[in-house]
Amino acid sequence: MSLDFTGPLRDALVAADFTYDGVADLLGETAHRALSRNETTPGLRRTTDGGPLATLTRLFLLQAPVSHDAAEAALPGLVDRLCNAGLLEQSVGEVAARLDCRPYRTDEDDLWIVSDLTPGLDGAPNRVGSDHVLGISSASTSLAQLTIREPVGRALDLGTGCGVQALHLAAHAREVVATDVNTRALWMTRLNAALNEVDVDVREGSFFEPVRGERFDLVATNPPFVISPATGERLVYRDSGLPGDRVVEDIVRQAPQLLTEGGWCQVLGNWVIERGRAWDERLATWLDADCDALVVQREVVDPSEYVELWLKDAGLHGSDDYVRRYDTWLSWFDEQGIEGVGFGWLNLRRTGGGRHQLLDWPYDVEQPIGPALAAWGDAVAAEVTSDAHLVAAADLVQETQGRPGAEDPSTIVLRQQRGLRRARQVDTVEAALVGACDGELTVGQILDAVADLTGGDADQLRATYLPVARELVGEGFLTR
Ligand SMILES: C[S@@+](CC[C@H](N)C(=O)[O-])C[C@H]1O[C@@H](n2cnc3c(N)ncnc32)[C@H](O)[C@@H]1O
Repeated sequence: MSLDFTGPLRDALVAADFTYDGVADLLGETAHRALSRNETTPGLRRTTDGGPLATLTRLFLLQAPVSHDAAEAALPGLVDRLCNAGLLEQSVGEVAARLDCRPYRTDEDDLWIVSDLTPGLDGAPNRVGSDHVLGISSASTSLAQLTIREPVGRALDLGTGCGVQALHLAAHAREVVATDVNTRALWMTRLNAALNEVDVDVREGSFFEPVRGERFDLVATNPPFVISPATGERLVYRDSGLPGDRVVEDIVRQAPQLLTEGGWCQVLGNWVIERGRAWDERLATWLDADCDALVVQREVVDPSEYVELWLKDAGLHGSDDYVRRYDTWLSWFDEQGIEGVGFGWLNLRRTGGGRHQLLDWPYDVEQPIGPALAAWGDAVAAEVTSDAHLVAAADLVQETQGRPGAEDPSTIVLRQQRGLRRARQVDTVEAALVGACDGELTVGQILDAVADLTGGDADQLRATYLPVARELVGEGFLTR
């Protein structure tokens, strides 16, 4: 279907100031927050002036029909064309939205994203069709914040949906390829690329099949990662059709073949936590020597929480067969020996280094976290010898605890204020080492001085603490 309406549509959206800030100002904080809870009433009360911005907001965000005249005024000459394209529908005197079209602000730009309508406004049933194309979800935002935004040559958005990641990638990649199996999603990605005046090479096909034999400098993917029993039903935006967490495992295992030297693959995913086995022990088996990897487990949920979350997401809470579905899913988890599900990020960089860190880190981090991940990639690959001049990271604070009046603290913790905001309990030698790292002396000289002060054996101290210094660099407490 022709996308020649996108230029005039863009002009109309610009003319109406249908931007993120424009809508936020119009709605005000209360109605804006209500809408984020899927409640439209406060917003309807704020959009009664009949102007183009109010009309577009009512139409696309609040899913309220508007008069034909108001629609024509906001979208001059476009109503029939948008009806033909499936974005709008009209009845006698009224126009309603059939797709969502909303402003989206990135660090670089004001964009617009067309997707399927948000289901479940004002408590309406939120069941969607199997080929539903999600708009910007919290997972989309997480991946967008995770993605390293450095200039690159080729970037891949695997499972593009409405194309939101591809649009972000287009701001810093010379070439962007976006793939999906859902033809409706591919159409919306093409539409969104045209609407936002960016080039995206949109390809149909399953996982890596459309890009076989190609290499990318950056792969950013929010794949259909929901872990569910194969019941035959599939919501393509979240179910891969592969067993367990195979979809995430496959992407991780394939990443080295897909990346250029130094290239990154960043994956948002869910993974199985098997009964009696540490999560990181299992995920470590997915990682290979071609890539450095930082896997961060951000959250763990138990099987019942997980099942409830996704049954509700599918609009099945309260349905006649809710209890049966819940029970089937839980029994399947039980049979599979699944005692929990981890949510998190997998960041792989092809270096040939094989340095892997798996981190359980549910705490608040600085957002966007992408720059900290890029810094991790450089830090973990850095050579740290006894001749290195290291500097304590500028954002470190030291916390000490102990009995009042005690000569020495019982615990010392170094805590980062930025990035992942890691914390590390250290001993007095490590604390002294970090405290003395101002770039003047080498690590070896500092350790020798500590040995001198404490009456320890200098060779022994170097043998013990040089590997610790490497860890401190890899974790961002010390920089080169
Ligand atoms: C969770 S959505 C992510 C959408 C979007 N990239 C984002 O970040 O919001 C997962 C996407 O993967 C697509 N998908 C499902 N199975 C796939 C497959 N076998 N190969 C490629 N994409 C697939 C779905 O159609 C959906 O668009």
